[in-house]
Amino acid sequence: MSGSLREHLADLEAAGELVELAPELSLKLEAAAALHSLSGHTVRFQGFRENARPAVGNVIASRATFARAIGVEVSEVTEAIARALDTPGEPTRVAQGACQEVVLEGDAVDIAALPIFTHAADDGGPYVTAGVYVVRDPELGHNLSYHRSLVIGPRSFALRILDRDLMHFLKRAGGSLPAAMVLGLPPSLLLAAAISLGPGRSEYGVAAALAGLELCPARIDPELLVPASAEWVLEGRISLAETHPEGPFVDLTETRDIVRQGPVFRVERITSRKDPIYHALLSGGLEHKLLMGLPREPTILREVRAVCDCKAVHITPGGASWLHAVVQIEKRGEEDVRAAIDAAFRGHSSLKHVFVVDADVDPFDPQAVEWSLATRFQADRDLHLFPGTRGSSLDPSADPSSRLTCKAGFDLTIPAGKERWKFERFQFPAIDTARLRGGAPMGD
Ligand SMILES: Cc1cc2nc3c(=O)[nH]c(=O)nc-3n(C[C@H](O)[C@H](O)[C@H](O)COP(=O)(O)O)c2cc1C
Repeated sequence: MSGSLREHLADLEAAGELVELAPELSLKLEAAAALHSLSGHTVRFQGFRENARPAVGNVIASRATFARAIGVEVSEVTEAIARALDTPGEPTRVAQGACQEVVLEGDAVDIAALPIFTHAADDGGPYVTAGVYVVRDPELGHNLSYHRSLVIGPRSFALRILDRDLMHFLKRAGGSLPAAMVLGLPPSLLLAAAISLGPGRSEYGVAAALAGLELCPARIDPELLVPASAEWVLEGRISLAETHPEGPFVDLTETRDIVRQGPVFRVERITSRKDPIYHALLSGGLEHKLLMGLPREPTILREVRAVCDCKAVHITPGGASWLHAVVQIEKRGEEDVRAAIDAAFRGHSSLKHVFVVDADVDPFDPQAVEWSLATRFQADRDLHLFPGTRGSSLDPSADPSSRLTCKAGFDLTIPAGKERWKFERFQFPAIDTARLRGGAPMGD
């Protein structure tokens, strides 16, 4: 289990799963392109042409990387997150953290110290993408959430803040709050920060349950606790009264988001480790997708389990890890499928298409899911349409102002009343061909 980004990187390095890149790339477009071409691999940049500081990307390179970081098998990930949601842990409090080894204040504060990527040619500028904002409300406690942050000056960012918990906290505080943007976090905390828990339940408890967690007081407000193991902490204030154009930005769906006025975060202090590692999260990349999808699988699982025997849920990267889910059930009656479809939409309100498969179809194998669409599905019988439903703001095909969309549930299960054997996929027995070929690997 990895309680810090460094432990996670050391573990990947020992397993030969860390790709190291020489300091030859530009922060402008080239480094992001490298992350894109090395999708599925964790990448350590030794530095860049414009900035000698190191960075990492694709920290949660795959589902398997995440499973490894929290010490479970890949097949146990959804259940492990569900357990952490049900029984949060208790973080340990320490007086000072490694994240405060260096403190920059006053004129020394310049966010150019961080090797911030410009991801796409049309983006509004360099963006911090893995920055988790920590705020605190005297009654509701701590809240953690990601907000893409456009560099607009040496000490300021323009943020994208949707109408969720951080906005709620800001409004309760009269429009302005001290905040810490924390960067360089272990996978457990990266995932916890992506969960929408609602006010009053802290993401810190989920991270503590997944892999343990130490917190220390921020300098800006001793009541505001930050992860002691973070690489960088940018302390300052977010203000709704001060806004600045934010965007365009290539987001989760790999399409361009528009320019809007966004609240400004003014940085007052930077604390860090002596040799901090920056985390660049490729927007629209697999890491972004996993962070969006993984927290929703347990919420769908819970809702579907309440109505039928649900074996597994997979939010698929092909559906931007936000709009599509495959739900695997053991069907006991025809009513199970429609109940599972309705429940899946309750479990994740942004879901657009849900595919219900039988227990013999692997929901993590896109070819198998498509095979069941081809062999078990008839559109006039098995397609359930929900026109005029409120969907995701991230779907460019939905009506942009009302967010109205047509949701659909696909029943890919074996139809009732038919001979089952006609729908069963023939399974070849396993055979050890390597032994027959004298142990020579394929292709030699
Ligand atoms: C990598 C990543 C980037 C995100 N960027 C933003 C963003 O720019 N603005 C936003 O409001 N939410 C963004 N989100 C979503 C929220 O951080 C996430 O849904 C969070 O759980 C919301 O927390 P809350 O329910 O405490 O408000 C992002 C999520 C991830 C994983």
